[in-house]
Amino acid sequence: MRKPVIAGNWKLFKSIGEAVALVNELKPLVSGAQGVEIVVAPVFTSLSRVSDAAKDSRIKIAAQDCYWEEEGAFTGEVSPKLLKDAGCSYVIIGHSERRQFFGETDATVNKKINAVIAAGLTAIVCVGESLAERESAQTFSVIETQIQGGLTGLAKEALSHIIIAYEPVWAIGTGKTASEGQAQEVHSFIRQLIARIFDQSVAGAVRILYGGSVKPDNVKGLMSQPDIDGALVGGASLKAESFSAIVCFNN
Ligand code: PGA
Repeated sequence: MRKPVIAGNWKLFKSIGEAVALVNELKPLVSGAQGVEIVVAPVFTSLSRVSDAAKDSRIKIAAQDCYWEEEGAFTGEVSPKLLKDAGCSYVIIGHSERRQFFGETDATVNKKINAVIAAGLTAIVCVGESLAERESAQTFSVIETQIQGGLTGLAKEALSHIIIAYEPVWAIGTGKTASEGQAQEVHSFIRQLIARIFDQSVAGAVRILYGGSVKPDNVKGLMSQPDIDGALVGGASLKAESFSAIVCFNN
């Protein structure tokens, strides 16, 4: 019922030429992937060119962030409307690196989600606890605050344009993956929380991705968990071989 999504977050890597080359290399490797939605998130400057290169494939394009205003005197910002114009259908919102280094808060996440949905795009909303928070048994309260704050005021219809990504900060780029059990426990908590805030049918339909050192050799185990509906992949998405192996986890 919930179609899995495998999304590659390219972060601040790859020139336009390298990004186009990677998507061209990926196309034949993922064309036979079964029952999965495929997304890549290049840097802003590559979006339009990567989107053109991916047109004849199943690969969809995401931006890594956006601003919430459509246009105006906001030097340096990019709106969801312009991301759509560049070929995006998804926008990653509230990645932990944005929260950590760029002052992203649950309030700005909320504004961005609203803007993304208003532009007709899907938001991939990231949440996750730090190591200190996990070690002091605050994981669930941190996740609850991020979800409540990020999704506040949204109509339940909006949830069909939202994908949640659970990314424990201690697992991002560290090679330390959450165990299948640790991830499933939080995914199940998030789904119950969505049921409480909205309703059971919305919670049953929303896709919750896991992110944090997902690799070809751990994706299958993670995907076997009942509440894990896909992956947000950083490091392993930068090479066609490893990303396509993750995308084809079901084959
Ligand atoms: P990683 O990054 O796969 O390199 O841990 C995941 C992410 O930051 O989305």
